[in-house]
Formats: sequence, C-alpha cells, structure tokens
Amino acid sequence: MSPARHVLAELAGLLACPECGLGLEPCDRALRCAQGHSFDLAKQGYVSLLTGASTKMTGDTPAMLDARAAFQGGGHFAPIADAVAAAAPADEPAAVVLEIGAGTGYYLARVLDTAPAARGLALDVAKAAARRSARAHPRAAAVLADAWRGLPLRAKTVHRVVSIFAPRNPAEVARVLRADGRFVVATPTVRHLAELVGPLGMVTVDPDKDRRLSESMAGHFEILDRTTVDYPMKLDRADIANVVGMGPSAFHDDGRDLAALPESLEVTASVTVSVYGGA
Ligand SMILES: C[S@@+](CC[C@H](N)C(=O)[O-])C[C@H]1O[C@@H](n2cnc3c(N)ncnc32)[C@H](O)[C@@H]1O
Ligand SMILES: [Zn+2]
Repeated sequence: MSPARHVLAELAGLLACPECGLGLEPCDRALRCAQGHSFDLAKQGYVSLLTGASTKMTGDTPAMLDARAAFQGGGHFAPIADAVAAAAPADEPAAVVLEIGAGTGYYLARVLDTAPAARGLALDVAKAAARRSARAHPRAAAVLADAWRGLPLRAKTVHRVVSIFAPRNPAEVARVLRADGRFVVATPTVRHLAELVGPLGMVTVDPDKDRRLSESMAGHFEILDRTTVDYPMKLDRADIANVVGMGPSAFHDDGRDLAALPESLEVTASVTVSVYGGA
C-alpha cells in the first residue's frame, strides 16, 4: 500500500461522508460510511469526496501545478514555508494537520517535517493537485473536495489548519478545528512579486485583502499572532516563467513579455503569516 493510502486508512475516522456526514471507515480499496456510501481510494493515494452536482470550481491546472512545483523546488519560497511551520508547530501527540488548497503539498510537507508525530491531509479541488500532494510527504494523504461546499471532516478533529495563498472558509475551519487548534493563513502583501506585476501584467494583490481577511474571520476566530516575511529573491527567466505560470496570471497571458526582462532580476517575496485561534 502506498504511504498515502496507509495514512488515509488511518485518518478515515476523522473524515465525514459528504452525502450524509457520518464517519468513514476503510473497507478494501475504499472508504465507506455506515449508510453504505462508498468512495474509492485512488492508487495515487487520494480519495475523492466530491459529490452531488459537479462543482463549478476546477482549481489549478496540471501546467500551473508543474510551474509551482518547479518554482518551489528552487527553494525561493522556503522562508515562507519555514515561517508557516514555525507559526504554530503541530507538536501535540498524533496531531492532524489539514492544508486547504494544498496544491503541490509543499507547505504541508514542511509543517510535517517539523512535527515528527503529526499526519497531514492535503485538500484541493483539483485532481492534479490531489495526486501530487498525496506524494508530498510519507505522513500525508490527499482529499479531493471543494472547500466552499464544506470540509469533509468531522467536527473538532483537526489540530492545525493551514491555508497558503488559498481559499479559507472560516466557518467550516472553525467547525473542524479542535478547541485548542490553530489556523495558519498566509496571504501576499502588495509588495509580493511587485517587480513583476507591472512589466508582466500580472494580477495585482487587492490592497483591501487584510481587511477582508479580518472580516471573514470575525465571529469565528481571533488573531493570536501575525508576522510578515519579506525578502528579495534572485530569479532568472525560467524562475520568472514559473512564478507567472503558477499563479492566477496564468489565465491571462496578455501584455506579458518575458523576453524584455533582464536575464536575472531581484524580486520581492512578501507574505503575511497570521495565526488564529477559536474566538
Ligand atoms: C494559489 S494555489 C496555492 C497552492 C498551495 N497552497 C501553495 O501555495 O503552493 C491555490 C490552490 O487552491 C486550490 N483551490 C481553489 N479553489 C478551491 C476550492 N474551492 N477548494 C479546494 N481547493 C481549491 C487550487 O486548485 C490551488 O491548488
Ligand atoms: Zn454516507
């Protein structure tokens, strides 16, 4: 059995059937609830809990995920991953960490590296992301689900939830997080990749993002800690192509002219890492 399928079988009891909400149990190559709803374990180590009317959300494309994996593999976002892992270490015995919109699973893997007893679930609406993130760490598995339609987890089961440049759904996070749990959110500041935004016509960060984040959290969470990670990255053209290709700008290729950029460019990474606890 792949490590991810093993982790899924171990964590099945925390998962909730998306049809009826009952807990799931491993059964052959599937997870099943007491009412008989059954969800196959993919051989790549993820389970699809997407059901009902097919979701309108498609998530990132395989090409975006390839670009993201290549960029992350270059270590350019390692300080962000370190800050996320340090923000709320998952050091309780048998801690469970959920990453929403996990993409490649890069940040979840970093959190698990620093928490030797923890296991992780990478949740994403994109199949390509579920496949990839299931392989991100030997103590991780992946779930295909749309975070906006509810998190397919039972109440008060998770010790940490992380959302890095990804959807949040605070009401659902509050439901699945344990009373002493922590929710770690990373969002870009207006300085993030600013040197590329103009020349390449990339999607800009909404300057109101912080206020919207606080408003969406109000009533569910209170802020416990906030740090900004801000540093220069030395990027060559291949890195720049990847950082453009992995983000929302990948959907708009108007006005971009990579060739007009210098061979190598100093680009700012700037991210706010916020830690929330129950209100
Ligand atoms: C900008 S990427 C960030 C990925 C990862 N956290 C990282 O920083 O490398 C956003 C991710 O959220 C996923 N996503 C978008 N909408 C979603 C939804 N409704 N439910 C779950 N995942 C979603 C996308 O497929 C994508 O992998
Ligand atoms: Zn069921």
